[in-house]
Amino acid sequence: MTFSPRNRIEVMHGVNLDQLGRRASEHYGDMTLTELETRISTEAGDLGLLTRFFHTNQEGDFVEHLHRLEGLADGIVLNPGAWTHYSYAIRDALELAALPAVEVHLSDVDNREEWRRRSVIGELCIARVAGKGPPGYREALERLHTELSEE
Ligand code: DQA
Repeated sequence: MTFSPRNRIEVMHGVNLDQLGRRASEHYGDMTLTELETRISTEAGDLGLLTRFFHTNQEGDFVEHLHRLEGLADGIVLNPGAWTHYSYAIRDALELAALPAVEVHLSDVDNREEWRRRSVIGELCIARVAGKGPPGYREALERLHTELSEE
């Protein structure tokens, strides 16, 4: 029997995250999305994880990408941007994907506007990391690494 490690992580960014580098630096820092993805990929490699990256500004594309993950990923790191706070469509698609997922936010969503405190995907995720900037993704990867090695 061949042993196949469960190490494939889908890193998904949603609406407006392609604008990193132009967005309010006090919340999001100065890194572009490409720079952030490069950093995440290196850190994942250190943990023995393989990453694939996806970004869209279209909610339906984000949903359909989640639909297609079956058999292609073992875990998900997702930052859906503002969709986090209201998209039941993404929530339902994440439930369908049925993979361990970690919600990440660069900014400290719990200490900004009231509406950012609510997450409609939170209860489906094994963890949430917020307000730690790019290092938060490393924490998310470590959490998934632990989860996938325990299964
Ligand atoms: C964000 C926080 C959201 O409230 C916001 O709409 C974003 C980015 C973050 O990474 O801090 O677009 O998800």
